[in-house]
Amino acid sequence: MDLLIKGGKVVTAKSTFKADVAVKNGKIAAIGTNLKPDKGTEVVDAKGKLVLPGALDGHTHMYMPFGGTISTDDYYDGTVAAACGGTTTIFNFETQAPGQPMDKLVKEKLAIAEEQGPVIDYSLHVGVGDVTNEKMLKSMDKVVDMGITSFKVFMVYDFGVDDGQFYATLCHAKEIGALVGVHAENKNVNDFLVKKYLSEGNISPWYHYMSKNEAVAGEADVRAINLAKMAGAALYIVHLDNAQGVEAVRQARAEGYPIFAETCPQYLEFTKEVYAKGRPEVKLRPQDFVCSPPMKGKESKDALWEGIKTGVVSTLATDHCPFLKKEKDWGIKTKTGKKGNFTTIPNGCAGVENMYPYILSAANKGKITFNKAVEIAATNPAKLFGVDYCKGAIEVGKDADIVIYDPKKNVVINNKKNQHGSIDHTVWEGIECKGYPCAVYSHGNLVFDGKDFVGKKGAGKFLKQKKVNHKGPELV
Ligand code: URP
Ligand code: ZN
Ligand code: ZN
Repeated sequence: MDLLIKGGKVVTAKSTFKADVAVKNGKIAAIGTNLKPDKGTEVVDAKGKLVLPGALDGHTHMYMPFGGTISTDDYYDGTVAAACGGTTTIFNFETQAPGQPMDKLVKEKLAIAEEQGPVIDYSLHVGVGDVTNEKMLKSMDKVVDMGITSFKVFMVYDFGVDDGQFYATLCHAKEIGALVGVHAENKNVNDFLVKKYLSEGNISPWYHYMSKNEAVAGEADVRAINLAKMAGAALYIVHLDNAQGVEAVRQARAEGYPIFAETCPQYLEFTKEVYAKGRPEVKLRPQDFVCSPPMKGKESKDALWEGIKTGVVSTLATDHCPFLKKEKDWGIKTKTGKKGNFTTIPNGCAGVENMYPYILSAANKGKITFNKAVEIAATNPAKLFGVDYCKGAIEVGKDADIVIYDPKKNVVINNKKNQHGSIDHTVWEGIECKGYPCAVYSHGNLVFDGKDFVGKKGAGKFLKQKKVNHKGPELV
């Protein structure tokens, strides 16, 4: 064996037990008590520590064009940040342009990703930007053949789908074994409210929340679920953020429909008040929190935590999409020097380095179990996105993507001192994590030593996804 992690407590989605973990050729080779190293095996003492699967972040936007700029982390910076937070696989969104066959998009974007040198394994979700004709819709098939089986439709934005296109995408996905994710917000109401607030001179980030409020999201969640039921297809609601949506998912799942929901740490930690006040104690302004969908009220935050505890919410992901402070200021003055408003702020926040420490800290504080944290951040995303043949659990035969977690190491997020991406600020500034990863391995190679990134540029490989069964995968 190459590596032996000795004396730690292994945490899976279902159980916690004391065991040694042996790694050979980048895979988990054995799990047991009193495993003996071979000559030359590196032995790591994990006494008093937890041994966890690396997290899978099913929702990132590395190097994504948005609002006149590109998100600051590319496939290298973003995966370095991920690795230093215990995330060992990402699924990055790449969105189809009008008239562009999806397989062409994928070929182009995979070449860019590889060139940038990701440090952990990665796959893509294809953002559906044009299914206005049969040729575009059918280009999904080639993407599935290339090993990408997850797509996202947008019910908002200019490139979003209407209900008919959404329905057609769901029906086609079902035929070809793909999973459709949805960004659910009511576009017409959102557009109406934006126009109304701007005409009234209400231009501050608070109106970003007001025009994308609870009802705007909740109505779309309900409609999306109804469309999936009509199509007889599975559905994955990305970045679920509101109580009405949680209830709709709960009900559909109770009725036996394969409806899955993802939420993000920002909806579990912050509420809409950040759009009025920011977090002045750490010098964050309201515009720094502008992301879509925006954070909602406390009732929604509480409903999401309850959804996690009761299994209504299946996964946690970040929606990592960082923009620089000066770009966030385009809500005051645009790039071209015109007066800005809440619609001219690039949407998105950083988070890829914070997801696993955040949810593990919640577990360490007793809010949920460590098993639940592993389930939603690693095991369930691996199953839903068809990579559980090699990722998402500490199991013999799986990739040795392993986090050694020290429950006694407390870290206060400080963008300058302990974060590793390319961004100049983070909404997570000043948040205290009770417990933190002290070592992270990708394929058995150390990538984070508890302080710094120590992996290799380009070590991450494109990961193929299996096809999806539309009865839905059996989750934990
Ligand atoms: O604000 C965000 N999340 N920007 C990225 C695009 C999206 O809708 O996920
Ligand atoms: Zn979205
Ligand atoms: Zn997103």
